[in-house]
Parts: sequence; structure tokens; C-alpha cells
Amino acid sequence: MKQRAIRGPAMTFRGDPFLLAAGEALHYWPDALIRIEDGRIASVEDAEQGLESLPADVPLTHYPDALICPGFIDAHVHYPQMQMIGAFGAELLEWLERYTFVAEQDFADAEHARDVAGRFLRELLRAGTTTAAVYCTVHPQSVDALFEESERFNTRMIAGKVLMDRNAPAELTDTAETGYAQSKALIEKWHGRGRQLYCITPRFAPSSTEAQLEAAGRLWREHPGTYVQTHLCENQGEVEWVRELFPDRSSYLDVYDHAGLTGPRAIFGHAVHMDETDFDCCHRTGSALAHCPTSNLFLGSGLFRMLDAKKVERPVRVGLGTDIGAGTSFSQLRSLGEAYKVAKLGGHALTPEQGFYLATRGGAEALRLDDKIGSIAPGYEADLVVLDLKATPLLDFRLSYARDLAETLFVLMTLGDDRAIRTTYIAGEPVYERDRVESFVYPA
Ligand code: GUN
Ligand code: FE
Repeated sequence: MKQRAIRGPAMTFRGDPFLLAAGEALHYWPDALIRIEDGRIASVEDAEQGLESLPADVPLTHYPDALICPGFIDAHVHYPQMQMIGAFGAELLEWLERYTFVAEQDFADAEHARDVAGRFLRELLRAGTTTAAVYCTVHPQSVDALFEESERFNTRMIAGKVLMDRNAPAELTDTAETGYAQSKALIEKWHGRGRQLYCITPRFAPSSTEAQLEAAGRLWREHPGTYVQTHLCENQGEVEWVRELFPDRSSYLDVYDHAGLTGPRAIFGHAVHMDETDFDCCHRTGSALAHCPTSNLFLGSGLFRMLDAKKVERPVRVGLGTDIGAGTSFSQLRSLGEAYKVAKLGGHALTPEQGFYLATRGGAEALRLDDKIGSIAPGYEADLVVLDLKATPLLDFRLSYARDLAETLFVLMTLGDDRAIRTTYIAGEPVYERDRVESFVYPA
């Protein structure tokens, strides 16, 4: 049995702070001892108590000026778009044509895909992100490249081949039949292998025919436990285009619902231009939304209405997405800083407890993995991030004036970024350590 222990201030969520008082939802240990056995959390208790029974031969790492959290979860990100972050000027549909569909063609080359997948996993780990729902490209080799690198780090990636059979360059399109067959082969190869999970990935309604969406729905029903991800109600022009392309459907979301693409393990990115019927459909079907604040601001898409999504009488599961490359940072701390500003423009102050919940347990609930990840509790997989409260002179100075945990968390949301990530543990192994000579190591 492989054992280790880590000690320091720690926090986790026992409930949803959109539905419960902050003090009920969040649990904080000023000085915790977390014991890890074979990649899982064996126990978490006050250090004073835990140290008494800790055998002398179990390696112990102490993080005094830190905060230990569950690893961050990115519920929506495109790895092939790393090379085009910060593409100037356009709104969604023009941005796709001018930049995205150009970059994604490079992934026909498996060597390029492997190079970018390697860089991508390292950026996630540097940001403290341990699980992500990832769009690859139309090319099956782009999926192999991502899962192969994820398998080396033992991270959990939920990923899949993009399906597009219209309104995209010929180099990036498949057909309803080939998209189905290629996705099926990838499911058989990767779904449930180690920590890897497959996600059926029609890009968005405008780039799939009804036949392709229906084939995707059939594939999903035939493979229980797999995921579906796509884009929904991101941009006003896009919503209008969907109305023209699918005149028989009552709304954008109805296009997906009609094709059998709503339900538990369906993740819809953006969901900015939603009405009550749409939110109700997500609640009823158990579908999840990915809030992508840096992206929605960068492309000028609009303001996600978090409080409407989280209405107490019909709460919808919401995770937090970076949406790289329309999003501008891998850091979920940066996403939270922007999520706060988005909420503020909508007339609401996102609390720090709500923010950190979205990045951890909320994401796990959205991805239906909240029995495995997103919490620090016995039996959970030990995917953890150690935040350094003295990471920069400014953070250190500002936090010396923080009066309680809520202020500390809020300052991290406001000023924090990848510099605040000291160590990222994947299944109990410190695969990223900021200050180590070799920052990244594959677990043994
Ligand atoms: N809608 C369809 N494809 C995309 C994409 O790649 N990024 C974003 N942000 N929206 C999309
Ligand atoms: Fe996206």
C-alpha cells in the first residue's frame, strides 16, 4: 500500500452554497492532516489529533501558508485552441471561421496533436485543474493524443472527437455515418480505460445536420456512462441561425432535446441566452451547464444568469469552464474573478463560497462525478491543489489584511492565477510542483 500525508489549512464543500447558508455548505480545517492511501483520501482530521496516530514511516508534507482544496474542474475547454488564444476582434461566428477552423485543421497531423496535448495537460496542472471536459477536433488522432498524455499523468479527461457535417470547411467535416463510427471506435478504445471517459461531441447545432444529431443521440443511448457536450445559446446571431436551420423546433435547446441529447452527463457550454423554459428543461432532464465567463466577455457573447440557473425551486447543475481559446486563461481563479464581475453586472454578488464551489464540487456534480472527486473526504480520489497564500508580494500583503476565510477566498478570486498554484496532486501524486527543478513528473 502506498501512503502519504499532507498537512495544512484545508477546505471542502458538503453542500451547495447557492441553496444552503455558506457556513453549512463549506467545511474548513485551520490545520488539517489528510492521509492518502493508494491514491484515495483515507482520512481527514484536525492535525493535532491525526498526528498522534500517524506512523513514523508515512511521508508527511507540511504546507503552513497555504490552502488545500479539491483540484479544480474545467467543465468546458478546447485543447486545439491553445494556439489561438487572443484572436482579435470578432464575435462568435466570424471568430470560428477566421481563426478556429484554421487552427483545428493542424490536428490532422498526429505529431502536432501530441505536441499540443502535452502542452495542454501541463497548463491545466499549472492552473491546479485536475479534471476537464475537453473538445478535440474532428480527427480521431486528436483524441488519441489527448487521452495518451492524460493517461501518463493519470488525470481524468472527459473528451471526444468533434462532430461536424455541415457549415464548416471540408477538411473539418465528417458525415452522420463516419462521425458515428469513429466516435464508437474511440469509445471502445478509451471509455473507462484508467481514468479516461468519452464524451460524444457534436460541436453545435449549426454545424450538424439533424441526421448527425440523431446519430449522436443513438450512440449515447447505446453506451451508458458516456457523456455528451456541445454549445448552447452562446451568441445572439448563433441563436437566430439555429432558428432558421431548425424551423420545426421550439428553441435552440429543443433541437438537442429532440435528438435525445439531454439528460444526466449532458454538458451544455455557455447558455447565455436562455429563457425559463430552457432552464426548466435542464432541471427536468438533469442536464448541466458550463459557465464560461472569460470567453463570454472576450467574444462579447453576453452575461450568464447564474441566479436564474440556480433558482431554489428548480436548480440546474452548473460547472465552470475556461473555454480556451475563446476564454483567456487556464486558471479557474481567473475564471472566478471574471464570474464575479459578470454576476455583478447582472445585479448579484457571487460569494466566494459560491465561486470555489463552482470550481470544485459544483463541477463534480455537473459531471456526475461527485461521488469520486471534488471533495476532501474519505474514499474520494486524492486530486488536490495546494494554493500558496504568499505566492506574490501583493497577494501576501493583501492577505495579511484578510479578516476571515471568506475574505481570503475572495482575494484569491480577485488576484489569484497560476502563480498561486504551489502543488497539484493527481490521485495522491504531486505531478506538478511549481518550485521543483522539474515542475512536471509523470507518476511512477
Ligand atoms: N460554438 C461552436 N464552436 C465553438 C467554439 O469552438 N468555441 C466557442 N466558444 N463557441 C463555439
Ligand atoms: Fe467552447
